[in-house]
Amino acid sequence: KLYPVILCGGSGTRLWPASRLDRPKQFLKLLGPHSSFQETLLRVRDLAAGREIIIVTGAAMIDFVREQAREIGTPVVILVEPEARDSAPAVAAAAAYVEALDPDAVALMLAADHHVGEIELFKDAARLAAQAAGKGLIVTFGVRPTGPATGFGYIRPGAALDAEGVFKVAAFVEKPDLPLARTYVSQGYLWNSGNFAFKASTMLAELDAFEPCIAQAARDAVAKAERGDPDNACLRLDPESFAQAPKKSLDYAVMERTALAAVVPAAFSWSDLGAWDAIWGASPQDGHGNAAQGDVTLVDSRGVLARSTGPFVGVIGVSDLMIVAEPDAVLICRRDDAQAVKTLVDRLKANG
Ligand code: GDD
Ligand code: MG
Repeated sequence: KLYPVILCGGSGTRLWPASRLDRPKQFLKLLGPHSSFQETLLRVRDLAAGREIIIVTGAAMIDFVREQAREIGTPVVILVEPEARDSAPAVAAAAAYVEALDPDAVALMLAADHHVGEIELFKDAARLAAQAAGKGLIVTFGVRPTGPATGFGYIRPGAALDAEGVFKVAAFVEKPDLPLARTYVSQGYLWNSGNFAFKASTMLAELDAFEPCIAQAARDAVAKAERGDPDNACLRLDPESFAQAPKKSLDYAVMERTALAAVVPAAFSWSDLGAWDAIWGASPQDGHGNAAQGDVTLVDSRGVLARSTGPFVGVIGVSDLMIVAEPDAVLICRRDDAQAVKTLVDRLKANG
């Protein structure tokens, strides 16, 4: 049995000014009628076959989660973190929760901020991964790199396993520096897509071995959790227990160390919607590579992302720019400077 788990913890600094602290990117409708959180729910809804879809997130996100899940008619259970302690504690809590429901269950853990092009291909891959996970493997989805990006985990695929399309992971390296990333790309490594399939019991056993504090904190936080709200959709993890978990991502805590990792190379197109250049890349474009969203008109321009949720925006005769207008703020930057939006936001924070 498959239980989808969606980790919903990010803030999305590089998608300013659309994304703000109180309006995180996974809930923004950046690519059509649904947010990436909703796209993720829609992607796994069939696989869940009526079982609950588990969301792990902070208290500040509950209303977004509820409202957006309701909008697309998908029931969810929310594991509420007392504080963000990175992905390993969040995954551990989900694993402890799922294991208590069903000791043999497989969890399909997904990030809430990705875009997948072909949903059916994704589902095929997820079913394959779930089967391998049922045999005690921790299965990742590998994506063909488009360049030596340093913000991803890199996977060296090893020997083929019994099931067609599943390989051992020979090496897993989280966020290498640029020279290493270049080497890995030339050696045929894959990007880790940041989605995983595993038996709850397998993940907890690996955490027991590598990060016993995280495993114990998560088990306690679930055992002492409180159901507080009227519709019973929220399970509030016990704050004292959860605070015992060191802050660590699953990639460092488990994936770099485990001998049980496997990879399913992805046939679907995938994008981590981290910055505006990725939004531009995943958006429908006109014949000149322009992506227009909202009340905007482009004349004689090329390779431009122009988006407005506020004033009308007119663009003439420019290329490779990103123009993002909100009612109270406007961003203009070169497309290849997309990552630098973080620097801008850091400066805004520093200036209060
Ligand atoms: N609930 C919860 N609580 N979720 C969290 C927390 C937390 O404290 N921290 C992170 N997450 C969620 C994020 O919302 C996201 O869905 C997922 O966990 C991954 O966290 P990121 O912070 O976005 O990680 P990353 O992008 O730097 O790296 C990961 O994803 C890459 C692909 O996008 C790694 O798995 C890389 O190896 C991978 O390549
Ligand atoms: Mg990410």
